Amino acid sequence: MQAHLQKIDPTLHFRRRLLPSSVLVYQVERDGSSFVLKVAEDAWDRKHLRNEERTLSLCSDVNGITHLVQAYRPTPSSYPRAILKEYMEGKSPQLGHRFSNSQLQSTLEKTVEELHYRRISDLELEYKNIVISRDGTQLRIVDLGNGSIYPKTEENAFRRAKDVDYRKMEWIFK
Ligand SMILES: Nc1ncnc2c1ncn2[C@@H]1O[C@H](COP(=O)(O)OP(=O)(O)OP(=O)(O)O)[C@@H](O)[C@H]1O
Ligand SMILES: [Mg+2]
Repeated sequence: MQAHLQKIDPTLHFRRRLLPSSVLVYQVERDGSSFVLKVAEDAWDRKHLRNEERTLSLCSDVNGITHLVQAYRPTPSSYPRAILKEYMEGKSPQLGHRFSNSQLQSTLEKTVEELHYRRISDLELEYKNIVISRDGTQLRIVDLGNGSIYPKTEENAFRRAKDVDYRKMEWIFK
């Protein structure tokens, strides 16, 4: 694994694989700080990561998400496409999770509002794509790989996608 990482970025040290995931997702370290590295293995993964990179590039000032730190572009002879993101210490909630802190709901609502303001929707708001800090006071959306950016010409589709995001958010807190 470390050899694979070496090709992508020799300053990163492997810590563990993060699951569940559809692409390869690792917790890695650099200078004592943790990050998340998502690595593409095939064409579908590359498309997925390119999309996540594009979405995250528009969101460097959005609160409540794990931001893009670095994007690695593939070249024919060298490393695969990969993205490095902030790491959020904590856990994804599980079915039946009791949210002890109602602040979390308004944090997520504000984040979703900020993303919609940037015309980003299809947020795939599910337990596996959010992480809550161990003390239960902080929440982040950790995966925007499914996000779409809706042009002004697709107002109806954008409205429908936003409705789905709201419904999924309600489901998380119900
Ligand atoms: N920034 C992060 N901080 C902490 N944990 C994370 C972070 N990013 C991802 N994880 C953990 O790793 C798992 C997989 O990450 P992610 O959802 O980005 O992968 P994915 O391949 O897009 O998965 P899927 O398509 O199944 O949603 C998440 O469910 C979460 O538990
Ligand atoms: Mg995910």
